[in-house]
Amino acid sequence: MIDAISFNNNTLRYLDQRYLPLREEYVSTRSHQEAIEAIKTLAVRGAPLIGVAAAYTIILGINSFKGSKEEFPPFFRELIADVEASRPTAVNLFFASARLKKVYDENFESDTIEALFSKMAAAATKIHDDEIANCDAMSRHGVEQIKIDLADILKTRKLNVLTHCNTGTLACCGTGSALGVIRLAWQEGLIERVITSESRPLLQGLRLTAWELQQDGIPYVSISDSSSAFLMQRGMIDFGIVGADRIASNGDTANKIGTCAHAISAYHHNLPFYIAAPVSTIDITIPDGSYIPIEERNADELRTIFGTQVALPNTPVLNYAFDVTPGKYLRGIITDKKAVVGDYSNELKLIVE
Ligand code: MRU
Repeated sequence: MIDAISFNNNTLRYLDQRYLPLREEYVSTRSHQEAIEAIKTLAVRGAPLIGVAAAYTIILGINSFKGSKEEFPPFFRELIADVEASRPTAVNLFFASARLKKVYDENFESDTIEALFSKMAAAATKIHDDEIANCDAMSRHGVEQIKIDLADILKTRKLNVLTHCNTGTLACCGTGSALGVIRLAWQEGLIERVITSESRPLLQGLRLTAWELQQDGIPYVSISDSSSAFLMQRGMIDFGIVGADRIASNGDTANKIGTCAHAISAYHHNLPFYIAAPVSTIDITIPDGSYIPIEERNADELRTIFGTQVALPNTPVLNYAFDVTPGKYLRGIITDKKAVVGDYSNELKLIVE
């Protein structure tokens, strides 16, 4: 049983994903600085999990506060700024900090500091519980949509599905977003094999998705990121489904670098390509994908492979962690509220609270 993240007795415990699948190492910390470092280094990662980790990190921060009530506001502002600076693209992080800021804004004047902290802790736990429940709802909506879109193939055989990066329990706490849909589809007998693309440079697909599928006994095969078009050409992929780090109000979607190439290939081959993401990943404040901040990570992630130097140390590198897939290449966006197909601009704003 994977326990990606938990919070008890003011202690954050997480599975350090950097060492998987070769080493299962759980880390416990009461330090919000250490928790911020875990988000930055991808020890904890995946948009919904980043949101949950950010919420608990803020709770660790406020629990370390020793001053008077008057001294709390500047401390809280700095804490929120530090947490929000950890990773820029996954909007779930900002969704979580906004939730806790709202609790602060609504209760700071009237509550004792102890009562305020306990309401904030309850809000963090709720974010965690909601993300677990979201996975089940997304899975149901996703499977229903697949049964509609791929009904003809399903009359004669099961489906081969492409996924990218890791969108399972490790990324979402529950069964997963895209991987949650795949898991339920497998349980319902719809899936022949899952194709996991490696997700260079940190190999979330090859290391993490493969590990989760293996634990569940779901047949899978791993490919290099550049193989998907060829497999589609050969009829070896029936549809694709991935997660998201931020979805703009017109459906443009940021996800792990490499996603856009898979989506364009799927579109070219007339194969449905879906995003599965909770409503907390939709950023209704931005009109399109050009407004999504894209994280650029350290060049050495590319010049080295897990510590081994593979390129000249001074090789100039562009290491974008995410790309943006235009909404037109997507067959649908599967959320916990419903599967949105087609008219993203009108429909997404209706499902965001
Ligand atoms: O850099 P990562 O590993 O945090 O990137 C994760 C992804 O791109 C996932 O596909 C995305 O967060 C969706 S997780 C349900």
